[in-house]
Amino acid sequence: MEYTTLGKTALKVSVAGLGCGGPSRLGLRDNSESQTQATGIVRQAIDLGVNFIDTAQNYGTEGVVGKAIAGVPRDRLIISTKKTLPAADHPSPEDEIKKGVEQSLKHLGTDYIDVYHLHGVEPKDYDFAKERLMPAMRRLCEQGKIRFIGVTEGFVPDPSHQMLQQSLKENLWDVVMVGFNLLNSAARRTVFPMTGEKRLGVLNMFAVRRALSQPDRLKGIVAELVQKGAIPGDTVSAEDLLDFVLRESGATTLPEVAYRFCRHERGVHVVLTGTGSPEHLKANVESILKPALPEPVLQRLEAIFGSLDYLTGN
Ligand SMILES: NC(=O)c1ccc[n+]([C@@H]2O[C@H](COP(=O)([O-])OP(=O)(O)OC[C@H]3O[C@@H](n4cnc5c(N)ncnc54)[C@H](OP(=O)(O)O)[C@@H]3O)[C@@H](O)[C@H]2O)c1
Repeated sequence: MEYTTLGKTALKVSVAGLGCGGPSRLGLRDNSESQTQATGIVRQAIDLGVNFIDTAQNYGTEGVVGKAIAGVPRDRLIISTKKTLPAADHPSPEDEIKKGVEQSLKHLGTDYIDVYHLHGVEPKDYDFAKERLMPAMRRLCEQGKIRFIGVTEGFVPDPSHQMLQQSLKENLWDVVMVGFNLLNSAARRTVFPMTGEKRLGVLNMFAVRRALSQPDRLKGIVAELVQKGAIPGDTVSAEDLLDFVLRESGATTLPEVAYRFCRHERGVHVVLTGTGSPEHLKANVESILKPALPEPVLQRLEAIFGSLDYLTGN
């Protein structure tokens, strides 16, 4: 494993982080896997050297993480979890935050959380988050229940990072979780320059998701973009693109290309990978540790997708 420093937090984090949500939820998405298998995924990640584990109140996987990390020295792990936003008309949103952290600590079986995020903050939530929730988050920090404050964007409703662009003008967060992948690299222009300037920790979500884990889905997306005139049809056919990218990268799979694309992006510290499959986890960690994609591949991807800021890969 390779490790890096998570911005100004100074936490030493593995460049591959285990995501315990997303479409797979450690394999618990459709209850196809048992809790024991899900616990096994977390343990496997730790055995592979992953020390960054990301979960959330609403994933239903905090308890699985708690079981998997019992017995692992706490200072070897960086635990990240998230609080679902209380409703804007909640009578006491501050208390809701306090209650949320206590529940998360209990499920995780720990007495502190390294990075505690406000989960999926959309532009419409921003003022509420800043004015009503942040004071409670800061108090939790002072009490030592959380070490650092994070925010995750709602990438599907906000694929052009409006919330982050607005909030990064101020000094609120220590860590941000950003949607970034080869179909939507807008964060390179609108988010990473600011996170770099403020030395924030940057977690990358949506590296692969569905579009980049299923070649047929990618082909469908490219065909649709060509049809809509969003990308020029004479520069790309979906078949050619895939062949070119795999051949020039020496990559064996599309997810490998997608994870390598994110891992070597300047400004990204941890690439999250979410899966319910031990084979995928092993392959993904290997991919994240492989070299950057060759320059001609990066240039071609930039020429095709570089100006799009509305795809998510979902
Ligand atoms: N707003 C938020 O706060 C937010 C939103 C989304 C995600 N997240 C965080 O980010 C983490 C990463 O989420 P993500 O969904 O963006 O993860 P991802 O790693 O981009 O994609 C995961 C999806 O790709 C599939 N997959 C993974 N590796 C594969 C492989 N080698 N071959 C084929 N399919 C593969 C998985 O299915 P299999 O199970 O079949 O492998 C899963 O459906 C989440 O777990 C969560 O912690 C946060």
